[in-house]
Amino acid sequence: MLIQIPDVLSAEQVAAFRDVLERAAWAEGRETAGDQAATVKHNLQVPSDSDVARDLGEGVLHALARSPTYTAAALPLRVLPPMFNRYDPGMTFGAHTDNAIRTVPGSGGMRMRADVSTTIFLTAPEDYDGGELVIEDTYGSHAVKLPAGHMVVYPASSLHRVNPVTRGSRWASFFWAQSMVRDDGKRAMLYDLDVAIRQARAAMGDEAPAVLGLVSHYHNLLRMWAEL
Ligand code: NI
Repeated sequence: MLIQIPDVLSAEQVAAFRDVLERAAWAEGRETAGDQAATVKHNLQVPSDSDVARDLGEGVLHALARSPTYTAAALPLRVLPPMFNRYDPGMTFGAHTDNAIRTVPGSGGMRMRADVSTTIFLTAPEDYDGGELVIEDTYGSHAVKLPAGHMVVYPASSLHRVNPVTRGSRWASFFWAQSMVRDDGKRAMLYDLDVAIRQARAAMGDEAPAVLGLVSHYHNLLRMWAEL
């Protein structure tokens, strides 16, 4: 399931993020990649243990908390601290699948499963060429390049890549969540049901027996499938 969520960050927030990132010390991005991914990864990242990453990461987490669509789509149990990357001309990230297991920084070694990957775009699409996030799913391949402040949520299990940037610089925040529902197909069904429930509530009101039945069914499926 691939979901685009607009306006997760306002234009003012994007400008404030970019202002801080302008002054950040960028490092080679290979440090957070698995063995295979590291061989095809060529970009720059803000070190995850830096003050910049911590402060901006907090800002991203606050924005996520205000996004009911993200919550419904990812059903997050844990979110790894958001990171920040950039692709200057010639930089790229070849086809890879994200690591299944990640260590939570500063947790004394606690590990989490990465089920859901997210990218928040921090550069306006007209300011760079290339740099599309290309995600493969059973319906084919999808090239994603969104306005600054918008975000795409997709399965960490998918094969994906970032096309080479040929002009400008593509900046983004990216992070992983462990979902309460590990299976992407089940998560997608719950998301579709959530969307249908919101439509039914708007059309029929909360008192309608059909709405009550759908809401009950949602919670009972979640009870059946959630792992905490
Ligand atoms: Ni990836």
